[in-house]
Parts: sequence; C-alpha cells; structure tokens
Amino acid sequence: MRDLNEDTLTKETIRAVTGGKDGRISAVSEALVRHLHAFIREIEPSQAEWEFGIDFLTRVGKMCSETRQEFILLSDTLGVSMLVDAINHRQPEGVTETTVFGPFYVESRPELPLGANMSPNETGVPLFVSGTVSDIEGRPIAGASVDAWHSDDDGHYDVQVGSDLRMRARFRSDAEGRFWFWTVRPTFYPIPNDGPVGDMLAAQGRHPYRPEHVHFMIAALGQKTLVTHLFIDDDPYLDSDVVFGVKSSLVTRYRYETAGEAPDGSISLRDYLSLEYHFVLSPAA
Ligand code: BEZ
Ligand code: FE
Repeated sequence: MRDLNEDTLTKETIRAVTGGKDGRISAVSEALVRHLHAFIREIEPSQAEWEFGIDFLTRVGKMCSETRQEFILLSDTLGVSMLVDAINHRQPEGVTETTVFGPFYVESRPELPLGANMSPNETGVPLFVSGTVSDIEGRPIAGASVDAWHSDDDGHYDVQVGSDLRMRARFRSDAEGRFWFWTVRPTFYPIPNDGPVGDMLAAQGRHPYRPEHVHFMIAALGQKTLVTHLFIDDDPYLDSDVVFGVKSSLVTRYRYETAGEAPDGSISLRDYLSLEYHFVLSPAA
C-alpha cells in the first residue's frame, strides 16, 4: 500500500475498509468511500475549500447539545431525512403518509383527557382538532396513543423559549377510534437558523421556513407507529418547505366556525377554527 495516486487510491481505500467481519459495515463502508471519492473527483476542491468543508462540519458538531441537533437539521435540509423516511415507509395504499419527525418532540409531554385544551394560556386563534384512528381495513382503533405538538402563533415551540411544556399533549382514542382536543392555531416558522445550517441555507439562496403544521405521532398495539403532520392548504411555504416534508395527502383545510356550541358540546366564547383528519395505520410487520 505505497505510492498511491489519483488512479489507485479509491480501489485501495475500498480494499482497506471492507476487511471487517460485519458484512453490513463492509457494504456501507464500500459505498461510502465509492460515493465520497466520486464526489471529490467531481468537484475537485482546492485545499482551502476542503478546509472550509472540514470547518463547516466541525461547527455543525459544536452546535449540537442536549437541546439542539445540528446534524439532524443538516440531514433535514439536504433532503436526507425525508429520503430515509421514504425508504422506510413503502406502505400500502390508503395508509396515512409519513413525514419528518423534527427536533421538537418531548417525551415528558402531558397526558390529557379527550376534549382538553392543550394550550390554555396561549394567545392565538382557538383551534378544535378532531379525527379518527383506524386500521387498514377501516376498523376503528380504540386506545391509540395520539401525540400532538406544534408551534405557537409566533412560530416558536415551547422548548425554544423556556422550560414550560405548552402546545403539546398525548390523548387516547375512544372506543370508536375518535379523538378531539382544543389548542390554538400555529403558524409557519423558520427552523433554527443561527448556526452553520442557517449559514448554508443563506449561501444556497434558500429561506429557512416550514409551512404551518401540527405534528402527530400515533401508536397502537399491532400497528406501525405513524409520525406525520397536518399542513394547511393556504400556506405560502407549502411548495418550498425547507425540509422537503410536504405531501398532498397531508394538506388539510380549516373550517371557520362561529362562537357558540362546539362539536364536543363545549361552548366557545370566540370564533374558532376546526380541523378534522382520519388517520389510517399500517399493520406492524
Ligand atoms: C419541525 O417541524 O418541527 C422541524 C422539522 C425539521 C427541522 C426543524 C423543525
Ligand atoms: Fe414543526
């Protein structure tokens, strides 16, 4: 392994990285070196450009903390997260489509009864969310865990501004697979863009926005856990989501409701919006 040059380096590197016992590691290492070397051969970086790239990745690593995952953000904004999601969710027709998980889920979210308001102290337009959870045969799923979370009407998640958990909760579907809860309307927002990923977006001439959405994670016994969002049909960023997460089947529309008795029998003193969606889970393998 001496005197390697532009012509022989790739072959020799592949030989060196594929000698381990684990076949999957060999396959991944081989593909990694093959694609990485092809990328370098194509762009022919100057030494200064290579140093810039190393510094960029170093800054991405240094930005990571308990509450900030800059590498996932990089994966999201380069379309990798949605590609991994697509590869892992080649699912039957009729099953609700998946989209990116995002960094703002919190395991310790409150568990609330059906009909509760998960955003009681927020400003913003009241929003009544309801729907059903069923299996691929259309059978309602009782007791499904329905997690919902979203930004405030200013475009921030609770975890971005303080330690109080807000605008998030877990509900359980009733005997007919139904769920319903109150919250406030979220809005479109920029992903965290004060770090190297933000610099990258600016250099690429891209905006940092995600269209307005409510996140859902729905889990039930014997079914694959569904991670998805509901988007709103008049959002200006639907066709330029910075993380490539929008799917037409997840784009919904608000109904504008007047103050008075709401579908759950409660009285809304203010005009409000309502949103309804029927989630279909796919059977666990
Ligand atoms: C989100 O929707 O919460 C999100 C997804 C990807 C990157 C940043 C935020
Ligand atoms: Fe989000």
